[in-house]
Amino acid sequence: MQYIHISHYAQTGNIEILDKPVPTPQPDEVLIKVKAVTVNDYEWTMVTGEPKLYRLMHGIFKPKNGLPGMEYAGVVESVGSQIKNFKPGDKVFGDTSDYFFGTFAEYICLREQAIFKMPSNATFAEATSLPHASMLAYQGLIKEGNIKEGQKILINGAGGGVGIFGVQIAKMYGAEVTGVDTAAKLDTMKNWGYDHVIDYKKIDFTKTGEQYDLILDARSTRNPSDYERALLPGGVFVTVGGDLPKLIKIMFVNKFLGKKNLRMLALRPNQGLYQIVSWFEQGKLKTHIDGPYPMEKSADAILSFGKATHKGKVVITIDE
Ligand SMILES: NC(=O)c1ccc[n+]([C@@H]2O[C@H](COP(=O)([O-])OP(=O)(O)OC[C@H]3O[C@@H](n4cnc5c(N)ncnc54)[C@H](OP(=O)(O)O)[C@@H]3O)[C@@H](O)[C@H]2O)c1
Repeated sequence: MQYIHISHYAQTGNIEILDKPVPTPQPDEVLIKVKAVTVNDYEWTMVTGEPKLYRLMHGIFKPKNGLPGMEYAGVVESVGSQIKNFKPGDKVFGDTSDYFFGTFAEYICLREQAIFKMPSNATFAEATSLPHASMLAYQGLIKEGNIKEGQKILINGAGGGVGIFGVQIAKMYGAEVTGVDTAAKLDTMKNWGYDHVIDYKKIDFTKTGEQYDLILDARSTRNPSDYERALLPGGVFVTVGGDLPKLIKIMFVNKFLGKKNLRMLALRPNQGLYQIVSWFEQGKLKTHIDGPYPMEKSADAILSFGKATHKGKVVITIDE
């Protein structure tokens, strides 16, 4: 079978397609024929080895595993003897990031914890784009942010995966939603449903005087005091990721200064995915895809994510 391999850290020229045998599932595993995968921060940091701290995860001198991929959608090929909930032919998807990485391959073996039935109306490209970013938005807004009806909400880094799903979930709560991202993405963001959009290169949303009940941040480039200034009394700031030194400051003021309105989400992969499946099947939640790129154009797909020229979730089709 073919798989995508990252040989060394570089900006380009290090992504290759190699061959290896199809894996055999253990008794508690399912063999899945992968149809589509997505590109996330995980892949870009594996390609570049930047920021260098990520090399603690990927490998100090070169990627030790070299096989990227957290999300997948595909078809069950065969099941181990202990598997009761899945059978060959089932269309499945999920985020594997709590125990397994390496979905950019024609076949993968997974335990049941990372396998879910696809929404019945989703294509493979749509399904693979759902679990990671939608869970960040869902858990950020609902579990950490305690979103309430009619709130005034701001999403920073709103033109990426979290922003796609965040605006739709916030709208289900009747929220007025502002999205902050780069100028080139603002028109697309309005089409996704944002009421107001802000170009972060021109306007610092923490200095406009506007205040919000809930801020969800996928990039977190500011200090805790800046976020507090942009919150209404009783408001909550939730970061799902971003600039490491800023994240450490946010964690510090939460833990040691008792500022419980500044929160950091630790993603629990796939927890709540049943709700996303239900919303998708009812047509209440849509996804937006950049691509899909065929497997042989994987380097282009990963580079498009790295250069941030993508609009929507970057999808690679492994097998049509
Ligand atoms: N909490 C957890 O457990 C957990 C787990 C996995 C991942 N994560 C994190 O979750 C986040 C995933 O977000 P995503 O999938 O939505 O990422 P994404 O698709 O890369 O989108 C991020 C958006 O932010 C924009 N942006 C960059 N710098 C910005 C700034 N200073 N101000 C406003 N917008 C800015 C980017 O646009 P341009 O670059 O074009 O300007 C891009 O459109 C990442 O930070 C990831 O590391 C968290």
